[in-house]
Amino acid sequence: MLHQDIFEELMSEQEINDTVDKIAAQINRDYAGKSVIVVGVLKGSIMFLADLLRKLTIDDCQLDFVAASSYSSGSVSSGKVKITKDITCNPIGRDILLVEDILDTGNTLSYIKDHLMKMGAASVRICTLFDKPARRKQPVAADYTGKTIDDLFIVGYGLDYSEHYRNLPYVGVLKSEIYS
Ligand code: IMP
Ligand code: MG
Repeated sequence: MLHQDIFEELMSEQEINDTVDKIAAQINRDYAGKSVIVVGVLKGSIMFLADLLRKLTIDDCQLDFVAASSYSSGSVSSGKVKITKDITCNPIGRDILLVEDILDTGNTLSYIKDHLMKMGAASVRICTLFDKPARRKQPVAADYTGKTIDDLFIVGYGLDYSEHYRNLPYVGVLKSEIYS
């Protein structure tokens, strides 16, 4: 199938670049003179994380990763979260910036944030490229948001549908015929 039969563009490469610039400026202002561990949530955050990281001017900036599984298949998530890969840095007393592709029900990020706070982090802030507040089930909010969107299923720039389309350099809305 042709790409235009599968999805419609939601955020172009240029818009992604401008959005990452905007978020990086906010983070650089808030964390100036501080030290931070940037924790990417695998796998969806990788492109956003890579673009964001090179725009961060914070002197003391470390990188780590966490992976969580929400027992989902395709576009349906069960809500039960488990950590499948934990961070390796010592989080005790540290300021952590969680970087995620999309905040949807909030199950994943509220679970990871709670987990890092229980491990002794001094603070955990959330940075997400996309936010779908309409589907929120947990009382979690992002500190940095690229774009708030309606209840759409999007792919590309790291975001997947059953592990596909992560490689697209832009973000598209997956047509419902593909997953319904
Ligand atoms: P939450 O736990 O429901 O907030 O969902 C978080 C995860 O679900 C995200 O990290 C994504 O991996 C996935 N997800 C939610 N919405 C979308 C979407 O529109 N496209 C692709 N993945 C999504
Ligand atoms: Mg995902």
